[in-house]
Amino acid sequence: MSRPLLEMHGIVKEFPGVRALDNVDLDVRPGEVHCLLGQNGAGKSTLIKVLAGAHTPDEGRIVWQGEDVSFAHPIDALGHGLATIYQELDLVDGLSVADNIFLGHEHSRGGFVSRGETNKAAAALLARLGHPEIKPGRELGSLTPAGKQITSMARALSYNAQLIVMDEPSAVLDGDEVGNLFRVIKEITSEGVAVVYISHRLEEIREIGDRVTVLKDGRTVAQGLAVADVTTREVVSLMTGRDIEFVFPDRPTTAVETGAPLLRVEGLSRKGEFADVSFDVHPGEILGLTGLVGAGRSEILETVYGARTPDEGTVTLDGQRMRPGSVTAAVKAGMGLCPEERKAQALVLGDTVIRNVSLATLGRYANAGLIGAEAEREDVEKLTRDLDVRPADGRRVVRTLSGGNQQKAVLARWLLRECKVLLLDEPTRGVDVGARSELYQLVRDLADSGVAVVMVSSEVPEVLGLADRVLVVRDGRVVHESPATELTEADVLDLVMEGHAA
Ligand SMILES: Nc1ncnc2c1ncn2[C@@H]1O[C@H](COP(=O)(O)OP(=O)(O)OP(=O)(O)O)[C@@H](O)[C@H]1O
Ligand SMILES: [Mg+2]
Repeated sequence: MSRPLLEMHGIVKEFPGVRALDNVDLDVRPGEVHCLLGQNGAGKSTLIKVLAGAHTPDEGRIVWQGEDVSFAHPIDALGHGLATIYQELDLVDGLSVADNIFLGHEHSRGGFVSRGETNKAAAALLARLGHPEIKPGRELGSLTPAGKQITSMARALSYNAQLIVMDEPSAVLDGDEVGNLFRVIKEITSEGVAVVYISHRLEEIREIGDRVTVLKDGRTVAQGLAVADVTTREVVSLMTGRDIEFVFPDRPTTAVETGAPLLRVEGLSRKGEFADVSFDVHPGEILGLTGLVGAGRSEILETVYGARTPDEGTVTLDGQRMRPGSVTAAVKAGMGLCPEERKAQALVLGDTVIRNVSLATLGRYANAGLIGAEAEREDVEKLTRDLDVRPADGRRVVRTLSGGNQQKAVLARWLLRECKVLLLDEPTRGVDVGARSELYQLVRDLADSGVAVVMVSSEVPEVLGLADRVLVVRDGRVVHESPATELTEADVLDLVMEGHAA
């Protein structure tokens, strides 16, 4: 067994009213992929922020390559060869890819004199990561989330990092890109670099992980177990403290597809994004849209919602033709969209959970004065309880919630609002396994109450398990439509890759 690269002993970190880390231990060996698991709010991001010098621990020791260290600032940690790729990427959109890679190096631009040299060095790193197509001179803001992540990794490599910590990297990637990321991880670990990998997708842990450490409520409940020695079921019960059955809610027994559709989309097109998209959704029905990220699924949802204006085609809600490109009209007619990039698009970070959740529903409570405020709190807290938002106190400021709990707050907002048509873009992204099954049940209950639901998800098993009908989108076109029960995961993968089932 090799000497640990990193040891963290008895780490304690308190925030006002929360003991986020309560005596946590972690050890990482050179060249391994060490998975850090735990439910939303368990303390994963806090632990790696302590490690990186972004938070100062209240107690505990950090031993890096045999020496006690404390990093006052993330740049310190980077200088010692410890890089972190955060859940919220810390790159600068307005700068070029190359400038982002060498951002914060001791000499500006990593000691390179000319822009040409900087760009060349950046290009070499990007090529090493298997992404020569990302041009160093490009503005970072124009890259996809996957491209930004690769840039962040190139930055880590530019500092000659011995340990790269990745906080939910796959949350913004599709299957193909995750495959690519794993290839990169395998390559750098074979060179002796260690990776700490955080994810809520447990199948990834099996694929990439060597060992796992599990946190629960800020404590280490399992430290450094070999992945080969634990089952996924055991990991889940360590994380949640209970056994979770992975069952999807029952589908309605009577066909819902009879009668008039609630939402009808006909011949919807937007140049360069998607073309000739048509589908119907009936009350009580969940329609799943799947395909690769970038296939146009989110763009389709946003166009249906009026956030983008179609070049051609129509959207009809309950017999009423929607004004193209008008969110106001869509919302008024009873449409709701829970967007993919929840933090950027949806949350008022400085406001409380209650206010954030009831944002879309304010009218309902505002007219009722004090009684309204009480009703508002009760309704919100019931939903946040169902979704297991932690801490459960609705008066908490959203900024202080963990990533996954923030997402649950946005989801709760749209579940609270009485919509006729609910559009959900990647609803379970970043949400832990424990809360997922609750979420599936809530969505099914909404459908059962007569709502028409359209859900976009890259997680194929989720689409097949939850939706009634599935559309597979490839390069902006619908290449397949069928009842979910008639498709297997392998069929869908063939469809998204090849455009037809094998
Ligand atoms: N700046 C802060 N102020 C107050 N509380 C905080 C702050 N940052 C985190 N917390 C709290 O610390 C706890 C751990 O949060 P953390 O972000 O580490 O969870 P996590 O395991 O990364 O969860 P997720 O899977 O949702 O990302 C949570 O209860 C969270 O609300
Ligand atoms: Mg986190």
